[in-house]
Amino acid sequence: MDENKNIINEKINRLHQLKKLSEIGGGDKRIEAQHKKHKLTARERITLLLDEGSINEIDALAHHHSTSFGLDKEIYLGDGVLVGFGNINNRKVMFYSQDFTVLGGSLAEQHGKKICKIMDMAMKIGVPIVGLNDSGGARVQEGVLSLGAYADIFLRNTLASGVVPQISVIMGPCAGGAVYSPAITDFIIMVKNTSYMFVTGPKVVKTVTHEELSSEELGGAEVHSSKSGVAHFTAENDVEAMEIVKKLLSYIPQNNAEEPPFFPNDDPTDRIDEDMNYIIPANPNQPYDIKEIVTKLADNNDFLEVHKDYAENIVVGFIRLGGRSVGVIANQPAVLAGVLDINASKKAARFVRFCDAFNIPLLVLEDVPGFMPGSDQEWNGIITNGAKLLFAFAEATVPKITVIVRKAYGGAYDVMNSKHIRGDLNYAWPTAEIAVMGAKGAVEIIFKKEIEEAEDPIAKEQELIYEYNEKFGNPYIAASWGYIDDVIEPKHTRKILIDAFNLLENKVDKNPYKKHDNIPL
Ligand code: HXC
Repeated sequence: MDENKNIINEKINRLHQLKKLSEIGGGDKRIEAQHKKHKLTARERITLLLDEGSINEIDALAHHHSTSFGLDKEIYLGDGVLVGFGNINNRKVMFYSQDFTVLGGSLAEQHGKKICKIMDMAMKIGVPIVGLNDSGGARVQEGVLSLGAYADIFLRNTLASGVVPQISVIMGPCAGGAVYSPAITDFIIMVKNTSYMFVTGPKVVKTVTHEELSSEELGGAEVHSSKSGVAHFTAENDVEAMEIVKKLLSYIPQNNAEEPPFFPNDDPTDRIDEDMNYIIPANPNQPYDIKEIVTKLADNNDFLEVHKDYAENIVVGFIRLGGRSVGVIANQPAVLAGVLDINASKKAARFVRFCDAFNIPLLVLEDVPGFMPGSDQEWNGIITNGAKLLFAFAEATVPKITVIVRKAYGGAYDVMNSKHIRGDLNYAWPTAEIAVMGAKGAVEIIFKKEIEEAEDPIAKEQELIYEYNEKFGNPYIAASWGYIDDVIEPKHTRKILIDAFNLLENKVDKNPYKKHDNIPL
């Protein structure tokens, strides 16, 4: 009996030794180097991200079988990536976390296979995929096998798009073709000072364009959060990045067949906010911060803003209303008067499509003077890009509610989820102005002759502007046509929205059968 125990224990010990080997990755020195760069290890990150005791690693013993360029002497169990499943706030996820201490987290055949395995499982089960990226890119020694492994992942990212949520966190290098996996996923979170993304690095850039830029300047978190819009969130450090993932997932369903999670809370659904009546300035040209309205409406004033520093003339993000997740799209009069330009249209269109793909209702807060004029916008395709937003709202079948708080001018009136493109309930505040254009521009067109021939053209123009505003600078003509469903007092907006989203809870709407649409890309 004892001998039997001894034999079994030996086998168990062997397992423990192998697991331990896998756990230490590239070894203490490289772990120390990782910490010196203010980066946590792959395992420390996953420990922070997942609920305690819920981590289940798989393929911990997988390794490459390459003998090229001395790789047979560099075998690391796990092959530089930790993959598995577990819970975040008691909800299942599948994860991968690249281990920079092993061959620089470089990706090759086994490393790629491990990631593909959890992606395939996540799609079958219907759970989100969270990828923590920290890698020197394709493992040079494994050549085309590395490239193939990347393409295997790109395919799965594409097939999983709109089926299960995919979140990428960039926590170190992410260069070359490797950037295209995160780019296909739904959200990218970058860590300040320690992460960067670029298709070609500073050295190649210097040779080709003679620009001298550091990695941070070329593709750091700040650049991608504000200039390119590649990153949706910026974290101060690894710990904050994990917190952002957790918060983001709390608004999102597990897959496209489920509803977002419901979070009952203490904030009264009939909370009346007297201040709300006075947020809009009396002068229609005076800016104000739309985020004040968003946060006042939200349960416990909590707003998770997405793409905070990019195309700030439109604001997008998640709130809860009466416990229900809602995606908010709001023009921002405090930046460029809230005009719709190329970047704002792209930013909002992508957000609308994400919410629609994952059954998250949409709330539009509208104060928009129109599309941005100018050669720069025209030559860079405001036509095609503005159409993206129109297309995204028009095709969306989730519950869609609009509140016009001030301006709804021109084509932008149509685009911002008007009733004509299937807005379900469209409200206006008494401060709304729904018209083809602002008063000054309008009278200069309609009354050009009268103004020119008047004894006092300036006085005449002022008189006509006053008349125009009396007639069109309000929501009542639109209300008379049923283009808005009701004019509401601002302070009651929260209760009305909660009632309206409750009403729309089981809404069914369909688009005609198609292989896929042809959104103007
Ligand atoms: C194999 C790699 C590697 C790679 C890094 N390492 N990148 N091994 N393939 N791609 C190894 C290093 O040899 C080193 O091993 C360890 O990882 C840590 O790297 P260091 O250079 O010491 O670290 P650091 O100074 O922080 O620099 C990190 C780095 C640099 C900037 C990422 O390592 C680098 O430039 N690597 C090459 C990047 C690259 O060109 N990748 C291919 C991109 S093309 P030791 O044993 O010394 O610890 C690509 C195509 C994808 O990815 C195509 C998809 C379609």
